[in-house]
Amino acid sequence: MRQPDGDLTVRAYRGEDVPRLAEIFREAVAAIGPANYSETQVAAWLGRVPSADALAERLGDGRRVWVLADQAGCAFAFIDLEPDGHIDLLYASPAIAGRGAVAVLFAELEGHALTVGMARLHVEASAAARRFFLKQGFAVVQRRTFEIDGVEIHNFAMEKVL
Ligand SMILES: CC(C)(COP(=O)(O)OP(=O)(O)OC[C@H]1O[C@@H](n2cnc3c(N)ncnc32)[C@H](O)[C@@H]1OP(=O)(O)O)[C@@H](O)C(=O)NCCC(=O)NCCS
Repeated sequence: MRQPDGDLTVRAYRGEDVPRLAEIFREAVAAIGPANYSETQVAAWLGRVPSADALAERLGDGRRVWVLADQAGCAFAFIDLEPDGHIDLLYASPAIAGRGAVAVLFAELEGHALTVGMARLHVEASAAARRFFLKQGFAVVQRRTFEIDGVEIHNFAMEKVL
């Protein structure tokens, strides 16, 4: 697994980041998912990891996207923000997860949301992301149960009023 080269800083997403972001998505689910979800659930979640092309289309639909990158410019985490305050994606490489670095990425998003006058941020968070978002001042609205390819899995609807 790739290790960061120097300090991590936040910058805007660029189109050329996409293959690396798809890699982070897969590595994060594979390495961090099993702490809270069964092998079957993680396998179903991995089945939803988008191709680079699908991810490029999703990230290019007008939403804002920020990455946490090392001094060589390589991404190690990313987060997005849709115009209605919805956070769709948050993934961190296991090489840097669990160390507090991702909070800086969220702070950039929140600063932007405040600047443009958003009233509320909301997310459907995985179990690990629930603990991350609680630390960022979000509250759980509802525990959600749903299916991915016939496999039952849960996450948490959360919100933060700004
Ligand atoms: C969500 C995520 C970006 C948060 O970043 P982070 O740097 O891990 O944030 P935190 O340090 O606050 O950790 C949040 C929780 O993740 C878990 N976690 C973090 N790194 C982990 C690792 N390498 N292995 C297992 N669990 C881990 C911890 O349980 C932690 O909760 P705790 O602080 O109560 O122990 C990151 O955990 C991640 O990419 N997770 C996998 C993908 C995912 O769930 N994405 C969200 C989809 S909604």
